Amino acid sequence: MDKLKITGGRALEGEVRVSGAKNAALPIMCAALLSAKPLALTNVPRLRDVSTMAKLLAQMGVTVNRQEAKTVLHAKEITEPTAAYELVKTMRASVLVLGPLLARCGEAKVSLPGGCAIGARPVDQHVKGLQAMGATISIEHGYMQASASRLRGARIVMDLVTVTGTENLMMAAALAEGETLLENAAREPEVVDLARCLIAMGAKIEGAGSDQIRIRGVPSLGGAEHRVMPDRIETGTYLAAAAAAGGKIRLTGTAPESLDATLDKLREAGARIEIHGSSIDLEIARRPGAVSVRTAPYPAFATDMQAQFMALACVADGTALITETIFENRFMHAIELQRLGADIRLEGNTAVVKGVERLQGAAVMATDLRASAGLVIAGLVAEGQTVIDRIYHLDRGYEALEGKLTALGARVERIK
Ligand code: EPZ
Repeated sequence: MDKLKITGGRALEGEVRVSGAKNAALPIMCAALLSAKPLALTNVPRLRDVSTMAKLLAQMGVTVNRQEAKTVLHAKEITEPTAAYELVKTMRASVLVLGPLLARCGEAKVSLPGGCAIGARPVDQHVKGLQAMGATISIEHGYMQASASRLRGARIVMDLVTVTGTENLMMAAALAEGETLLENAAREPEVVDLARCLIAMGAKIEGAGSDQIRIRGVPSLGGAEHRVMPDRIETGTYLAAAAAAGGKIRLTGTAPESLDATLDKLREAGARIEIHGSSIDLEIARRPGAVSVRTAPYPAFATDMQAQFMALACVADGTALITETIFENRFMHAIELQRLGADIRLEGNTAVVKGVERLQGAAVMATDLRASAGLVIAGLVAEGQTVIDRIYHLDRGYEALEGKLTALGARVERIK
Protein backbone atom coordinates (compact mmCIF):
# COMPACT_ATOMS: atom_id res chain seq x y z
CA MET A 1 0.00 0.00 0.00
CA ASP A 2 1.25 3.46 -0.86
CA LYS A 3 2.60 5.69 1.90
CA LEU A 4 3.20 9.42 2.01
CA LYS A 5 6.55 10.67 3.34
CA ILE A 6 6.51 14.27 4.57
CA THR A 7 9.55 16.25 5.70
CA GLY A 8 8.09 18.92 7.93
CA GLY A 9 9.08 22.31 9.27
CA ARG A 10 8.65 24.49 6.17
CA ALA A 11 6.13 27.34 5.76
CA LEU A 12 3.78 27.15 2.79
CA GLU A 13 4.05 29.68 -0.04
CA GLY A 14 2.39 29.82 -3.41
CA GLU A 15 -0.86 29.30 -5.30
CA VAL A 16 -2.98 26.27 -6.16
CA ARG A 17 -6.38 25.72 -7.78
CA VAL A 18 -8.98 23.72 -5.88
CA SER A 19 -10.87 20.89 -7.57
CA GLY A 20 -14.55 20.18 -8.01
CA ALA A 21 -16.36 18.90 -4.91
CA LYS A 22 -16.42 15.11 -4.37
CA ASN A 23 -19.56 15.40 -2.25
CA ALA A 24 -21.36 17.30 -5.02
CA ALA A 25 -20.05 15.25 -7.95
CA LEU A 26 -21.21 11.90 -6.50
CA PRO A 27 -24.93 12.73 -6.07
CA ILE A 28 -24.95 14.72 -9.32
CA MET A 29 -23.59 11.69 -11.23
CA CYS A 30 -26.52 9.68 -9.78
CA ALA A 31 -28.96 12.31 -11.08
CA ALA A 32 -28.10 11.07 -14.60
CA LEU A 33 -30.18 7.97 -13.77
CA LEU A 34 -33.31 10.15 -13.69
CA SER A 35 -33.23 11.01 -17.42
CA ALA A 36 -32.94 9.25 -20.78
CA LYS A 37 -31.03 12.28 -22.05
CA PRO A 38 -27.28 12.96 -21.59
CA LEU A 39 -25.95 14.90 -18.57
CA ALA A 40 -22.72 16.74 -19.33
CA LEU A 41 -20.61 17.68 -16.28
CA THR A 42 -17.54 19.86 -15.97
CA ASN A 43 -15.18 20.39 -12.98
CA VAL A 44 -15.57 16.71 -12.00
CA PRO A 45 -12.59 15.85 -9.74
CA ARG A 46 -10.26 12.96 -10.64
CA LEU A 47 -10.76 10.88 -7.52
CA ARG A 48 -11.07 7.19 -6.69
CA ASP A 49 -14.64 7.66 -5.44
CA VAL A 50 -15.64 9.29 -8.72
CA SER A 51 -14.21 6.35 -10.66
CA THR A 52 -16.08 3.96 -8.37
CA MET A 53 -19.34 5.80 -9.01
CA ALA A 54 -18.70 5.73 -12.78
CA LYS A 55 -18.13 1.96 -12.58
CA LEU A 56 -21.33 1.49 -10.54
CA LEU A 57 -23.42 3.48 -13.03
CA ALA A 58 -21.86 1.70 -16.01
CA GLN A 59 -22.90 -1.65 -14.48
CA MET A 60 -26.49 -0.38 -14.64
CA GLY A 61 -26.26 0.43 -18.34
CA VAL A 62 -25.23 4.10 -18.13
CA THR A 63 -22.64 5.19 -20.69
CA VAL A 64 -19.94 7.24 -18.97
CA ASN A 65 -17.72 9.17 -21.33
CA ARG A 66 -14.87 10.89 -19.52
CA GLN A 67 -12.92 13.46 -21.54
CA GLU A 68 -10.28 15.88 -20.28
CA ALA A 69 -12.65 18.71 -19.31
CA LYS A 70 -16.05 17.06 -19.50
CA THR A 71 -17.78 13.92 -18.27
CA VAL A 72 -20.92 12.89 -20.13
CA LEU A 73 -23.29 10.43 -18.47
CA HIS A 74 -26.12 8.96 -20.53
CA ALA A 75 -28.72 6.67 -18.96
CA LYS A 76 -30.61 6.08 -22.19
CA GLU A 77 -31.71 2.74 -20.78
CA ILE A 78 -31.14 1.24 -17.33
CA THR A 79 -30.54 -2.45 -17.93
CA GLU A 80 -29.70 -3.54 -14.36
CA PRO A 81 -31.09 -1.44 -11.45
CA THR A 82 -28.69 -3.08 -8.99
CA ALA A 83 -25.84 -1.73 -6.84
CA ALA A 84 -23.69 -4.68 -5.86
CA TYR A 85 -22.05 -5.17 -2.44
CA GLU A 86 -18.56 -5.35 -4.00
CA LEU A 87 -18.74 -1.70 -5.02
CA VAL A 88 -21.07 -0.38 -2.30
CA LYS A 89 -18.75 -1.64 0.47
CA THR A 90 -15.94 0.52 -0.97
CA MET A 91 -18.04 3.68 -1.12
CA ARG A 92 -21.11 4.39 1.06
CA ALA A 93 -22.28 7.16 -1.27
CA SER A 94 -23.43 4.36 -3.61
CA VAL A 95 -26.69 4.46 -1.62
CA LEU A 96 -27.47 7.62 -3.68
CA VAL A 97 -28.61 5.44 -6.59
CA LEU A 98 -31.60 4.13 -4.58
CA GLY A 99 -33.92 7.14 -4.97
CA PRO A 100 -33.18 7.78 -8.69
CA LEU A 101 -33.53 4.07 -9.63
CA LEU A 102 -36.85 3.77 -7.82
CA ALA A 103 -38.14 6.97 -9.42
CA ARG A 104 -37.01 6.06 -12.96
CA CYS A 105 -37.39 2.25 -13.03
CA GLY A 106 -39.88 1.54 -10.22
CA GLU A 107 -37.41 -0.96 -8.76
CA ALA A 108 -33.94 -1.10 -7.23
CA LYS A 109 -31.71 -3.62 -5.51
CA VAL A 110 -29.05 -1.81 -3.50
CA SER A 111 -26.61 -3.34 -1.05
CA LEU A 112 -26.87 -1.96 2.48
CA PRO A 113 -23.72 0.15 2.90
CA GLY A 114 -22.87 -1.13 6.43
CA GLY A 115 -20.83 0.90 8.92
CA CYS A 116 -17.46 2.60 8.45
CA ALA A 117 -14.50 3.80 10.54
CA ILE A 118 -16.29 6.95 11.69
CA GLY A 119 -19.63 5.45 12.70
CA ALA A 120 -22.53 3.04 12.20
CA ARG A 121 -24.04 5.35 9.57
CA PRO A 122 -27.52 3.79 9.14
CA VAL A 123 -29.74 4.74 6.16
CA ASP A 124 -33.09 4.52 7.98
CA GLN A 125 -34.04 8.09 7.02
CA HIS A 126 -33.51 7.33 3.32
CA VAL A 127 -35.76 4.25 3.64
CA LYS A 128 -38.37 6.04 5.76
CA GLY A 129 -38.68 8.85 3.21
CA LEU A 130 -39.01 6.53 0.22
CA GLN A 131 -41.62 4.44 2.06
CA ALA A 132 -43.57 7.66 2.72
CA MET A 133 -43.55 8.14 -1.07
CA GLY A 134 -45.17 4.74 -1.48
CA ALA A 135 -42.16 2.48 -2.01
CA THR A 136 -42.04 -1.04 -0.64
CA ILE A 137 -38.58 -1.76 0.77
CA SER A 138 -37.42 -5.01 2.35
CA ILE A 139 -33.97 -6.11 3.45
CA GLU A 140 -32.96 -9.45 1.90
CA HIS A 141 -29.49 -11.00 2.14
CA GLY A 142 -27.90 -7.65 2.89
CA TYR A 143 -29.70 -5.87 0.06
CA MET A 144 -32.49 -3.31 0.06
CA GLN A 145 -35.08 -4.65 -2.36
CA ALA A 146 -37.25 -1.68 -3.35
CA SER A 147 -40.23 -1.31 -5.67
CA ALA A 148 -42.93 1.24 -6.46
CA SER A 149 -45.33 1.51 -9.42
CA ARG A 150 -44.85 5.30 -9.31
CA LEU A 151 -43.62 7.26 -6.32
CA ARG A 152 -46.07 9.85 -5.03
CA GLY A 153 -45.38 13.15 -3.28
CA ALA A 154 -45.41 13.25 0.54
CA ARG A 155 -44.60 15.47 3.50
CA ILE A 156 -41.46 14.00 5.06
CA VAL A 157 -40.10 15.25 8.38
CA MET A 158 -36.61 13.83 8.82
CA ASP A 159 -35.71 12.81 12.37
CA LEU A 160 -32.22 14.24 11.95
CA VAL A 161 -30.30 16.22 9.36
CA THR A 162 -28.82 13.88 6.77
CA VAL A 163 -26.99 15.13 3.66
CA THR A 164 -27.24 12.10 1.38
CA GLY A 165 -30.69 11.33 2.82
CA THR A 166 -31.90 14.75 1.66
CA GLU A 167 -30.22 14.27 -1.72
CA ASN A 168 -31.70 10.78 -2.26
CA LEU A 169 -35.24 11.93 -1.43
CA MET A 170 -34.94 15.12 -3.48
CA MET A 171 -33.93 13.08 -6.55
CA ALA A 172 -36.74 10.54 -5.97
CA ALA A 173 -39.33 13.31 -5.55
CA ALA A 174 -38.27 14.98 -8.82
CA LEU A 175 -40.16 12.29 -10.80
CA ALA A 176 -42.86 11.47 -8.21
CA GLU A 177 -46.54 12.16 -8.72
CA GLY A 178 -47.52 15.35 -6.93
CA GLU A 179 -45.63 17.47 -4.41
CA THR A 180 -43.09 16.48 -1.77
CA LEU A 181 -42.12 18.63 1.20
CA LEU A 182 -38.83 17.70 2.89
CA GLU A 183 -38.67 19.13 6.42
CA ASN A 184 -35.53 19.30 8.56
CA ALA A 185 -33.63 18.96 5.30
CA ALA A 186 -29.84 19.32 5.05
CA ARG A 187 -28.71 22.81 3.97
CA GLU A 188 -25.24 21.84 2.74
CA PRO A 189 -23.92 23.65 -0.38
CA GLU A 190 -23.63 20.24 -2.08
CA VAL A 191 -27.41 19.77 -1.69
CA VAL A 192 -27.90 23.16 -3.37
CA ASP A 193 -25.51 22.23 -6.20
CA LEU A 194 -27.47 19.00 -6.82
CA ALA A 195 -30.75 20.95 -6.83
CA ARG A 196 -29.24 23.39 -9.37
CA CYS A 197 -28.35 20.48 -11.65
CA LEU A 198 -31.81 18.88 -11.27
CA ILE A 199 -33.51 22.20 -12.06
CA ALA A 200 -31.35 22.49 -15.19
CA MET A 201 -32.72 19.02 -16.12
CA GLY A 202 -36.28 20.34 -15.71
CA ALA A 203 -37.07 19.53 -12.07
CA LYS A 204 -39.35 21.80 -10.02
CA ILE A 205 -37.52 22.45 -6.76
CA GLU A 206 -37.79 25.33 -4.28
CA GLY A 207 -36.01 25.98 -1.01
CA ALA A 208 -32.74 24.07 -1.49
CA GLY A 209 -30.29 25.51 1.02
CA SER A 210 -33.03 25.93 3.63
CA ASP A 211 -34.41 23.25 5.96
CA GLN A 212 -37.64 23.04 3.92
CA ILE A 213 -37.38 21.82 0.33
CA ARG A 214 -40.48 21.65 -1.86
CA ILE A 215 -40.38 19.43 -4.99
CA ARG A 216 -43.19 19.22 -7.53
CA GLY A 217 -42.73 15.98 -9.47
CA VAL A 218 -42.65 15.97 -13.29
CA PRO A 219 -43.32 13.06 -15.69
CA SER A 220 -39.75 13.10 -17.07
CA LEU A 221 -36.46 15.02 -16.97
CA GLY A 222 -34.26 16.18 -19.83
CA GLY A 223 -30.52 16.45 -20.31
CA ALA A 224 -28.37 19.33 -19.07
CA GLU A 225 -24.90 20.80 -18.73
CA HIS A 226 -23.66 21.45 -15.19
CA ARG A 227 -20.43 22.68 -13.60
CA VAL A 228 -19.75 20.92 -10.28
CA MET A 229 -19.15 23.39 -7.43
CA PRO A 230 -15.61 23.84 -5.94
CA ASP A 231 -14.65 21.55 -3.04
CA ARG A 232 -15.05 23.54 0.19
CA ILE A 233 -13.45 20.81 2.30
CA GLU A 234 -10.36 20.60 0.07
CA THR A 235 -10.19 24.41 0.25
CA GLY A 236 -10.49 24.37 4.04
CA THR A 237 -7.83 21.66 4.29
CA TYR A 238 -5.17 23.70 2.46
CA LEU A 239 -6.07 26.83 4.44
CA ALA A 240 -5.76 24.95 7.75
CA ALA A 241 -2.42 23.50 6.57
CA ALA A 242 -1.07 26.99 5.91
CA ALA A 243 -2.40 28.27 9.24
CA ALA A 244 -0.56 25.44 11.04
CA ALA A 245 2.70 25.50 9.04
CA GLY A 246 2.80 29.28 8.62
CA GLY A 247 3.24 31.15 5.36
CA LYS A 248 1.20 32.82 2.65
CA ILE A 249 -0.95 30.98 0.12
CA ARG A 250 -3.58 31.73 -2.52
CA LEU A 251 -6.29 29.26 -3.46
CA THR A 252 -8.08 29.87 -6.74
CA GLY A 253 -11.35 28.52 -8.16
CA THR A 254 -12.93 28.37 -4.68
CA ALA A 255 -16.45 29.17 -3.37
CA PRO A 256 -15.65 31.40 -0.37
CA GLU A 257 -19.33 31.80 0.53
CA SER A 258 -19.51 28.05 1.31
CA LEU A 259 -16.72 28.29 3.91
CA ASP A 260 -17.88 30.92 6.38
CA ALA A 261 -17.56 28.86 9.55
CA THR A 262 -14.09 27.63 8.59
CA LEU A 263 -12.82 31.11 7.62
CA ASP A 264 -14.17 32.59 10.87
CA LYS A 265 -12.24 30.02 12.90
CA LEU A 266 -9.03 30.59 10.91
CA ARG A 267 -9.30 34.33 11.52
CA GLU A 268 -9.84 33.58 15.22
CA ALA A 269 -6.57 31.59 15.11
CA GLY A 270 -4.77 34.69 13.87
CA ALA A 271 -4.73 34.17 10.11
CA ARG A 272 -5.19 37.14 7.81
CA ILE A 273 -7.68 36.14 5.12
CA GLU A 274 -8.59 38.11 2.01
CA ILE A 275 -11.16 37.12 -0.57
CA HIS A 276 -10.88 38.26 -4.18
CA GLY A 277 -13.79 36.87 -6.17
CA SER A 278 -13.21 33.10 -6.22
CA SER A 279 -9.71 33.34 -4.75
CA ILE A 280 -8.82 33.13 -1.05
CA ASP A 281 -5.52 34.46 0.31
CA LEU A 282 -4.31 33.33 3.71
CA GLU A 283 -1.27 34.68 5.53
CA ILE A 284 -0.10 33.97 9.06
CA ALA A 285 3.20 35.20 10.46
CA ARG A 286 3.05 33.85 14.00
CA ARG A 287 2.12 30.68 15.92
CA PRO A 288 -1.64 30.14 15.56
CA GLY A 289 -3.84 30.79 18.59
CA ALA A 290 -5.90 27.89 19.96
CA VAL A 291 -9.50 27.83 18.63
CA SER A 292 -12.25 25.52 19.85
CA VAL A 293 -14.73 24.06 17.36
CA ARG A 294 -18.02 22.17 17.62
CA THR A 295 -19.18 20.28 14.55
CA ALA A 296 -22.84 20.49 13.43
CA PRO A 297 -24.86 20.50 10.20
CA TYR A 298 -24.27 23.36 7.73
CA PRO A 299 -23.93 26.33 8.10
CA ALA A 300 -22.21 25.43 11.36
CA PHE A 301 -18.63 24.07 11.48
CA ALA A 302 -18.21 21.04 9.22
CA THR A 303 -17.41 17.62 10.68
CA ASP A 304 -15.25 17.06 7.56
CA MET A 305 -12.92 19.85 8.83
CA GLN A 306 -12.67 18.52 12.39
CA ALA A 307 -9.48 16.43 12.02
CA GLN A 308 -7.69 19.24 10.19
CA PHE A 309 -8.51 21.68 13.01
CA MET A 310 -7.38 19.13 15.61
CA ALA A 311 -4.00 19.02 13.85
CA LEU A 312 -3.90 22.84 13.89
CA ALA A 313 -4.74 22.84 17.61
CA CYS A 314 -1.83 20.45 18.30
CA VAL A 315 0.68 23.27 17.63
CA ALA A 316 -1.44 26.25 18.61
CA ASP A 317 -0.76 28.59 21.49
CA GLY A 318 -3.20 27.50 24.22
CA THR A 319 -5.85 24.80 24.72
CA ALA A 320 -8.66 24.03 22.27
CA LEU A 321 -11.82 21.94 22.73
CA ILE A 322 -12.77 19.95 19.64
CA THR A 323 -16.35 18.62 19.94
CA GLU A 324 -17.77 16.15 17.41
CA THR A 325 -21.58 15.97 17.34
CA ILE A 326 -22.25 14.27 13.98
CA PHE A 327 -20.34 10.97 14.01
CA GLU A 328 -19.86 8.79 17.05
CA ASN A 329 -16.35 7.54 16.22
CA ARG A 330 -14.50 10.38 14.52
CA PHE A 331 -11.44 10.78 16.76
CA MET A 332 -9.28 7.95 15.36
CA HIS A 333 -6.69 10.54 14.24
CA ALA A 334 -6.20 11.69 17.87
CA ILE A 335 -4.33 8.50 18.73
CA GLU A 336 -2.08 8.89 15.70
CA LEU A 337 -1.44 12.58 16.45
CA GLN A 338 -0.30 11.56 19.95
CA ARG A 339 2.38 9.48 18.21
CA LEU A 340 3.76 12.79 16.86
CA GLY A 341 3.92 14.16 20.40
CA ALA A 342 0.54 15.90 20.54
CA ASP A 343 -1.09 16.52 23.95
CA ILE A 344 -4.70 15.33 23.46
CA ARG A 345 -7.16 14.08 26.09
CA LEU A 346 -10.42 12.50 24.91
CA GLU A 347 -13.52 13.08 27.07
CA GLY A 348 -16.60 11.59 25.43
CA ASN A 349 -17.24 13.50 22.17
CA THR A 350 -14.77 16.23 23.07
CA ALA A 351 -11.00 16.27 22.58
CA VAL A 352 -9.04 18.60 24.86
CA VAL A 353 -5.99 19.63 22.83
CA LYS A 354 -3.16 21.49 24.59
CA GLY A 355 -0.90 23.02 21.95
CA VAL A 356 2.80 22.05 22.08
CA GLU A 357 5.83 24.00 20.81
CA ARG A 358 6.76 21.27 18.32
CA LEU A 359 5.71 17.88 16.99
CA GLN A 360 8.18 15.16 16.02
CA GLY A 361 7.91 13.19 12.79
CA ALA A 362 6.93 9.49 13.14
CA ALA A 363 5.19 6.64 11.31
CA VAL A 364 1.39 6.92 11.50
CA MET A 365 -1.64 5.17 10.05
CA ALA A 366 -4.52 6.77 8.12
CA THR A 367 -7.95 5.45 9.18
CA ASP A 368 -10.37 7.50 7.04
CA LEU A 369 -10.33 10.30 4.50
CA ARG A 370 -10.38 13.38 6.73
CA ALA A 371 -8.30 11.78 9.50
CA SER A 372 -5.57 11.34 6.89
CA ALA A 373 -5.84 15.03 5.96
CA GLY A 374 -5.27 15.88 9.63
CA LEU A 375 -2.17 13.68 9.70
CA VAL A 376 -0.82 15.37 6.56
CA ILE A 377 -1.15 18.78 8.25
CA ALA A 378 0.61 17.51 11.38
CA GLY A 379 3.36 16.01 9.22
CA LEU A 380 3.91 19.37 7.47
CA VAL A 381 4.52 20.98 10.86
CA ALA A 382 6.45 18.19 12.62
CA GLU A 383 10.24 18.13 12.84
CA GLY A 384 11.83 15.48 10.67
CA GLN A 385 9.95 12.90 8.64
CA THR A 386 6.41 11.63 9.03
CA VAL A 387 5.36 8.57 7.05
CA ILE A 388 1.61 8.07 6.64
CA ASP A 389 0.48 4.54 5.79
CA ARG A 390 -2.76 3.60 3.94
CA ILE A 391 -2.99 6.83 1.97
CA TYR A 392 -5.55 5.24 -0.33
CA HIS A 393 -7.94 7.03 2.00
CA LEU A 394 -6.56 10.36 0.76
CA ASP A 395 -6.92 9.38 -2.90
CA ARG A 396 -10.65 9.06 -2.33
CA GLY A 397 -11.10 12.75 -1.69
CA TYR A 398 -8.01 14.84 -2.59
CA GLU A 399 -7.06 15.30 -6.25
CA ALA A 400 -3.30 15.53 -6.97
CA LEU A 401 -2.50 16.12 -3.29
CA GLU A 402 1.29 15.68 -3.60
CA GLY A 403 1.44 17.96 -6.64
CA LYS A 404 -0.55 20.70 -4.92
CA LEU A 405 1.44 20.49 -1.67
CA THR A 406 4.72 20.55 -3.62
CA ALA A 407 3.45 23.63 -5.49
CA LEU A 408 3.04 25.25 -2.06
CA GLY A 409 6.66 24.41 -1.20
CA ALA A 410 6.05 21.34 0.95
CA ARG A 411 8.39 18.32 0.84
CA VAL A 412 6.15 15.35 0.22
CA GLU A 413 6.79 12.08 -1.58
CA ARG A 414 4.58 9.09 -2.32
CA ILE A 415 6.27 5.78 -1.52
CA LYS A 416 4.82 3.09 -3.76
C1 EPZ B 1 -22.26 13.23 4.00
O1 EPZ B 1 -22.36 11.89 4.49
C2 EPZ B 1 -20.84 13.37 3.44
N1 EPZ B 1 -20.65 12.40 2.39
C3 EPZ B 1 -19.84 13.13 4.57
O2 EPZ B 1 -18.52 13.38 4.06
C4 EPZ B 1 -20.10 14.13 5.68
O3 EPZ B 1 -19.24 13.85 6.77
C5 EPZ B 1 -21.56 14.02 6.16
O4 EPZ B 1 -22.45 14.19 5.06
C6 EPZ B 1 -21.90 15.08 7.20
O5 EPZ B 1 -21.66 16.34 6.72
C7 EPZ B 1 -21.15 12.67 1.14
O6 EPZ B 1 -21.78 13.68 0.89
C8 EPZ B 1 -20.89 11.64 0.09
P1 EPZ B 1 -25.31 12.18 7.07
P2 EPZ B 1 -23.78 11.28 4.89
O7 EPZ B 1 -26.35 11.27 6.53
O8 EPZ B 1 -24.84 11.89 4.06
C9 EPZ B 1 -26.88 9.75 10.88
C10 EPZ B 1 -16.24 12.96 3.63
O9 EPZ B 1 -15.29 12.97 4.43
N2 EPZ B 1 -27.88 9.15 9.95
O10 EPZ B 1 -25.55 13.64 6.95
O11 EPZ B 1 -23.63 9.80 4.89
C11 EPZ B 1 -25.44 9.39 10.53
O12 EPZ B 1 -25.07 8.16 11.09
C12 EPZ B 1 -17.58 12.30 4.04
O13 EPZ B 1 -16.21 13.48 2.52
C13 EPZ B 1 -28.84 8.30 10.47
O14 EPZ B 1 -28.87 8.01 11.68
O15 EPZ B 1 -23.92 11.80 6.39
C14 EPZ B 1 -24.66 10.57 11.10
O16 EPZ B 1 -24.45 10.36 12.47
C15 EPZ B 1 -17.46 11.55 5.32
N3 EPZ B 1 -29.76 7.78 9.61
C16 EPZ B 1 -25.62 11.73 10.86
O17 EPZ B 1 -26.92 11.17 10.69
C17 EPZ B 1 -29.77 8.07 8.27
O18 EPZ B 1 -30.62 7.56 7.52
C18 EPZ B 1 -25.30 12.61 9.65
O19 EPZ B 1 -25.01 11.76 8.58
C19 EPZ B 1 -28.80 8.94 7.77
C20 EPZ B 1 -27.85 9.48 8.63
